[in-house]
Amino acid sequence: MSKILVTGGAGFIGSNFVRLLLDETDHEVINLDALTYAGNLENLADLESNPRYSFVRADISLRSEVEAAFSSAPDKSSPEMVVHFAAESHVDRSVLDASAFVNTNVLGTQVLIDVARARGVERFLHVSTDEVYGSLGATGKFTEQTPLQPNSPYSASKTGSDLLVRAAHHTHGFPAMITRCSNNYGPYQFPEKLIPLMIANALEGQKLPVYGDGLNVRDWIYVGDHCAALLAVLMQGKAGEVYNIGGNEERENIWVVKTILELLGKGEELIEYVKDRPGHDRRYAIDGSKIAQELGWKPAHDFAGGLRETVTWYLDNKDWWQRVRSGAYREYYKRQYGSD
Ligand code: NAD
Ligand code: DAU
Repeated sequence: MSKILVTGGAGFIGSNFVRLLLDETDHEVINLDALTYAGNLENLADLESNPRYSFVRADISLRSEVEAAFSSAPDKSSPEMVVHFAAESHVDRSVLDASAFVNTNVLGTQVLIDVARARGVERFLHVSTDEVYGSLGATGKFTEQTPLQPNSPYSASKTGSDLLVRAAHHTHGFPAMITRCSNNYGPYQFPEKLIPLMIANALEGQKLPVYGDGLNVRDWIYVGDHCAALLAVLMQGKAGEVYNIGGNEERENIWVVKTILELLGKGEELIEYVKDRPGHDRRYAIDGSKIAQELGWKPAHDFAGGLRETVTWYLDNKDWWQRVRSGAYREYYKRQYGSD
């Protein structure tokens, strides 16, 4: 039984992954998270008494804090594996101010690599995004060979982190894999992202802000499917390799928004077309044939069913997102959308 250190385990995908590790493996899990606005220990409240789970509050850009987390086991032994989610993750925030993105995503990733190398970590999984490939036209899909052409400060900072991980493998033989996934949705997603934002606004009778013409396309994957793919790469992936992960469910944004309204029994008069996101990528789509062929992984959820389940989760967990939408989030909302 190994120890797995998960960074960003209090965020959306990280908390779903920690839950999967505890449910489906025998490993011990150390959750390292700085608890930024996006990190919420409520996401894992039911796991706190699990003897295989521990939490360490630490900032990945601060070496002393990362060192302390690596030594946090009772016998001070280092984790054998690392799964790295911690990041600033929201494109719109990176447009407003990119500094935290460079600090956490670029510098923080290098600090983590340095400590993990010094501690002799055996497997390091860097969780990245399809946004590093830039934007597609009407046809084609991203493969692992697609050139890296990030367009937003967020995706540029993630590309920087991917290149640092790649260089650590090439230069030092650091045993790292990189995954690049498409748009996730599901329980515990922070309501600044399209799907939970639209659900929460519709439930509160607020306008649903659709950027531009609403025809940008994303390839949606249920978070549980992404987590299952990550576990497959962590256990069976080859060091030095990149694996694309996608849902094979391309949709225009306006289709997603209208479907949410339909599921909630609300009218389309709530839709408001607003100013486009600067530099807005038009279309993402993943070619997932490598991970399917080499590791036998494919998504299990279709988008229609996954979206229905997700809407139900937000209906059943109103307290969670209403708490999250109070406080500092209101300031951000005003800055981004120009209204409360
Ligand atoms: P999130 O914003 O919900 O969570 C990020 C977590 O990282 C939070 O818990 C936050 O507290 C923590 N964190 C931020 N800065 C930190 C720091 N300096 N030190 C330690 N912890 C810090 O993000 P998410 O949507 O769960 O995404 C997780 C990862 O997956 C990110 O690396 C993101 O780039 C990648 N990814 C996300 C998606 C998606 O659709 N959400 C798709 C592909 C890849
Ligand atoms: O593709 C993977 C990426 O998906 C991840 O790397 C990012 O961390 C994650 O945030 C997500 O990025 P996007 O920018 O695609 O996700 P977001 O939910 O912000 O937006 C999805 C689409 O919806 C995008 O075309 C912009 C549009 N949108 C978004 C918001 C918040 C709107 O039309 N209105 C909105 O208010």
